[in-house]
Amino acid sequence: MQLHCVCLLAIIQLSCQLSTPEADTYKAAVVEFSPRVSNNNDSPIDENSKRYVSFIQQAAASEVDIIVFPEDGMTTIDLPEREKMDAWSTLIPLNYNPCNQHHIAVHEALKRISCAAREGKMYVVINIAEKLPCDGERCPEDGKFLFNCQAIFDRQGKIIAKYRKTHLFKEPQFDILQTPEIITFDTDFNVTFGTFICFDMLFKEPALNLTRIHHVTDIVYSTAWFSELPFFTAIQSQSEWAYSENVNFLASGYHKPQLASFGSGIYLGKKGIAKATIGEMGDEILIADVPKKNRKLLTENIKGALRWKYQGKSAEHIHDEFRRKRSEQTELEGERDSNLPSDFNVW
Ligand SMILES: *[C@@H]1O[C@H](CO)[C@@H](O)[C@H](O)[C@H]1NC(C)=O
Ligand SMILES: *[C@@H]1O[C@H](CO)[C@@H](O)[C@H](O)[C@H]1NC(C)=O
Repeated sequence: MQLHCVCLLAIIQLSCQLSTPEADTYKAAVVEFSPRVSNNNDSPIDENSKRYVSFIQQAAASEVDIIVFPEDGMTTIDLPEREKMDAWSTLIPLNYNPCNQHHIAVHEALKRISCAAREGKMYVVINIAEKLPCDGERCPEDGKFLFNCQAIFDRQGKIIAKYRKTHLFKEPQFDILQTPEIITFDTDFNVTFGTFICFDMLFKEPALNLTRIHHVTDIVYSTAWFSELPFFTAIQSQSEWAYSENVNFLASGYHKPQLASFGSGIYLGKKGIAKATIGEMGDEILIADVPKKNRKLLTENIKGALRWKYQGKSAEHIHDEFRRKRSEQTELEGERDSNLPSDFNVW
């Protein structure tokens, strides 16, 4: 009896722990979020960032390792014209901890999120408008860049990475970089994530560079999607991408059903869908255990496929895609044999 109790305690302890480099899984959260609009044309960032904090606290109670918020979740998609963007955007200094460093004038929202990340000991991914002062020849006329930006905080609240959206979708306020960024960040649980934003999903660069050249196995993604029937709803697009690239895909969607904007999920590549929602309840947090993918196996398979490709005289084989799929299948079978937890909440 005593022994049973000890075991039970040990199991409870194990199931409530932050992920480690050795662990087979990590715990992810994505938030389906409907941002508040301000009444008097003031920036709604303060109010929405406070609501983010309560989601981070909720996730912390479940010992989540990484949480993702949607595109435009701080501001709504109804941004003012560029001239009025000042209060709707912020500096985003890299390797800076807004919670305990104070020499750069960042938006109050960044401090709030940074402190919440620190308090909750989790990686936090937010999307927010970045302003970047600029005084060279190639600067925009108003002396600053504005980017649709993804910012990533580590467990101490430090901003460790940022990514600027490459493929804007009718967002005249924003600039783009001449060369797209390929952004990855490492975590203390030995998973390297890549990231991109919404419309980027439909283009090769930088999304496929992450998976096919840099062999990233896990993606954090924010979106404000406009779903279309029959095959173009947000969660269809998210699960398709995750499946075809066989990556873990953490997707957080903006919730505004009047615009057919809804849909978030945690996808496990070829292993299917851990959780997904179209937000019937409005705001919603999804939490799931995510099995780590074996980067080495993936890389070896890709190398194998490339060797096949260049064996023949001509470089273009019409069967290459088929070989790639077959090698992925082999990899899948390899993964199935390994010792994976079998109790995923498959949707
Ligand atoms: C980290 O991941 C790589 C492959 O993805 C693996 O080879 C390595 O052993 C892992 N490190 C630890 C400490 O588990
Ligand atoms: C993405 O990959 C392509 C090759 O497929 C390469 O030409 C391009 O330069 C890469 N983009 C970046 C930003 O590295």
